Amino acid sequence: MEYTTLGDTGLEVSRICLGCMSFGSSDWREWVLDEEEGLELVDRAVELGINFFDTANMYSKGESERVLGKALEGRRDEMTVATKVFHEMDEDNPHSGGLSRKTIEQELENSLARLGMETIDLYQIHRWDYETPIETTMRALDDAVRRGKVRYLGASSMWAHQFADALHTSDRLGLERFLTMQNHYNLAYREEEREMLPLCERAGVAVIPWSPLARGYLARPHEDVEATTRGASEEYIHRHPYREGGGPEVNARVQELADEKGVKMAQIALSWVLHKDWVDAPIVGTTSVEHLEDAVEALDISLSDSDVEYLEEPYEPVRVSGHD
Ligand SMILES: NC(=O)c1ccc[n+]([C@@H]2O[C@H](COP(=O)([O-])OP(=O)(O)OC[C@H]3O[C@@H](n4cnc5c(N)ncnc54)[C@H](OP(=O)(O)O)[C@@H]3O)[C@@H](O)[C@H]2O)c1
Repeated sequence: MEYTTLGDTGLEVSRICLGCMSFGSSDWREWVLDEEEGLELVDRAVELGINFFDTANMYSKGESERVLGKALEGRRDEMTVATKVFHEMDEDNPHSGGLSRKTIEQELENSLARLGMETIDLYQIHRWDYETPIETTMRALDDAVRRGKVRYLGASSMWAHQFADALHTSDRLGLERFLTMQNHYNLAYREEEREMLPLCERAGVAVIPWSPLARGYLARPHEDVEATTRGASEEYIHRHPYREGGGPEVNARVQELADEKGVKMAQIALSWVLHKDWVDAPIVGTTSVEHLEDAVEALDISLSDSDVEYLEEPYEPVRVSGHD
C-alpha cells in the first residue's frame, strides 16, 4: 500500500480510500452488500493496508455507518473514518436533512452512535444547503470540532464559487475550515478541472474524488455497461453524462490500453486518477474482494505521459453532474 499525507490534516492515509456506499443493506439498493459480506470486505481492505474509509449517514439509511463501525471495532485508532451529513434521513422529519445547526448537531450524534465512535475523523458536508447561510453551517461545524466530536472538516460536490465562499467565511470568522474536497472526477467526467481542482490546489485542500471508475462505466466495455446488477439498476450510472461527448471513445481507449498492458480496464481508469497530481486518494466502490485487490494493484501501474494524453484526448465538455 502507498500512503500519503491528507493535505493539512497531517493524517497518513492509504492512497486508496474504500467507499462504503456499497455496503449496509440490500433493502436500500439491490446491489448493496449486507452486513456479513461488508464485514469481510472491510477485513480484506485492512489486510491490504487500507486505513481510510468513506461513508455517509444516508448510505443504507445509516446501516453503512453501523457496519463500518462494527468492522473497525478494536482497531479504530489506526483508521481514518470519514462520514457525511446533508441528505434527509427521515421524510417525516425535516430536521433530518440540510445543514442547519439543529440538523448538524442531531445527525452528528446519530452518526457517532452508529459508528460506535466518540470522535469522527473527517466530517463532510455532502452537498450545499441553499436554505442555511454558510456562516451558520460553519459555526455549527466549528463547534463540533471544539466539542471534540469531530477532528477535521471536509466538503463534497458543489460549485467552486460556493466552496470559495465557505473557505473565505471560515477564514474571516476564525473558524475551522474545510481541509478536503470529495468531488466527482474520473476519465469520463473531468468538468472539475475547470474551477474546483485549481481552487483546491491554490487553497491547499486535499482532493478525494468519488466514483473514480465512473460508477463502473470505465470498468467494462461501453456496450456492457448494464451487464452487472448495479449497471442495470443504478440510476446514476445513466444520469451522469459518461456516455455523452467523448465518453465511448475514452472507454474504448481504456480498454485498448488495458489489453496492451495486460491489466483490467478498472485498473487503467483508477491508475489515471492516481496519476493526477491534484488527487490525494480516490474513493473506490466495490462489492467484491477481487475488485478491491484490483484497485490496490492499480497503484503499481505506471502510465507514461503519452498514455495519459491518449486516454484524455477524446474527452469533450459535458453537462455538470453530481451537485444535486
Ligand atoms: N460525495 C458524493 O456525493 C459521493 C457520490 C458517489 C459516491 N461517493 C463515494 O465514493 C465511493 C465510490 O463510488 P462508486 O461506487 O460510485 O464508484 P466507482 O469506484 O467509480 O464505481 C464502482 C463500480 O465499479 C465496479 N468496479 C470496481 N472495481 C472493479 C473492477 N476491478 N472490475 C470491474 N468492476 C469494478 C463496481 O462493481 P463491483 O461492485 O462488482 O466491484 C461498482 O459497480 C462510494 O462508496 C462513496 O463512498 C460519494
